[in-house]
Amino acid sequence: MDSDIAQQNADQQAPQGAAGLSLRDDPHHNSPDSQPRSLWDDERLSDPHSQSDKAARVRQMFDDIAPTYERVNTLASAGRDRGWRRETVRLAEIKPADRVLDIACGTGDLTEAFARAGIERIVGIDFAGEMLLRSLGRVPHQAGWIQGDALRLPFADETFDITCCAFGVRNFQHLEAGLGEMHRVLRPDGRAVILEFSMPTQPILRGIYQFYFAKILPKLATWISGDRTGAYSYLPRSVRTFVTPTQMIELLKKVGFSSARATSRTCGIVHMVRAEKATTE
Ligand SMILES: C[S@@+](CC[C@H](N)C(=O)[O-])C[C@H]1O[C@@H](n2cnc3c(N)ncnc32)[C@H](O)[C@@H]1O
Repeated sequence: MDSDIAQQNADQQAPQGAAGLSLRDDPHHNSPDSQPRSLWDDERLSDPHSQSDKAARVRQMFDDIAPTYERVNTLASAGRDRGWRRETVRLAEIKPADRVLDIACGTGDLTEAFARAGIERIVGIDFAGEMLLRSLGRVPHQAGWIQGDALRLPFADETFDITCCAFGVRNFQHLEAGLGEMHRVLRPDGRAVILEFSMPTQPILRGIYQFYFAKILPKLATWISGDRTGAYSYLPRSVRTFVTPTQMIELLKKVGFSSARATSRTCGIVHMVRAEKATTE
């Protein structure tokens, strides 16, 4: 990573990401045997994106599922998730000298994909410490990892050539604020790439996928991970109630990107978006 970038920002980040995002002190969160209780009951799942404490719940959830996160991803996507990330890297049209920020980097899968494609100056940021811990040492080049909030990126304006986010924007408390930050830290002529789940639009496929995603996957993933937070009930609900790729493009333009386009993959269960910041604004 560009050590200047890390050093420049080391003092600015709150050690736990954004203040006030922890549920650790909530006496109702942990059961007497210290196992996490469900973070997502039916009421919260009816509209997960409008929960006022969504960020705290999301962070707690990822801290709890971190040990099995990658295993479940691979299984749930039948191994496709790595290919989707590689394609997202290609969409960014990297040059070796580009400075890249991987937002909501989690355990570093996308960060690693960029590094393998030849990027040396890359920083991963995530607010879930347990996810971030698993990213350490993954990237063969120099990389930097920062615990921090995607909605308040601890970087100056126009620091990066590329900002990217895989399966992260859906989890933001405020989507528009997060997209605005992706734009703010980009230099003019920079580009943002986003990989996110979506629902197939073809009605029969949509029905079949909805059955798998909402009924089978949560049980399978919960069994594999031993999860008690409700993470794998949150996943399909948060996808189903999230903005469509078309709405995402509108939002990207609203926060200042000069152009944005989305491409669907794997029958529409994921999409990739590339957005460009104008050369001069
Ligand atoms: C589904 S994981 C994706 C991880 C990784 N990008 C990948 O491709 O596997 C979503 C990540 O977003 C992070 N996240 C969600 N909201 C965030 C925020 N406001 N600031 C920083 N990280 C956030 C979570 O902690 C979690 O690690």
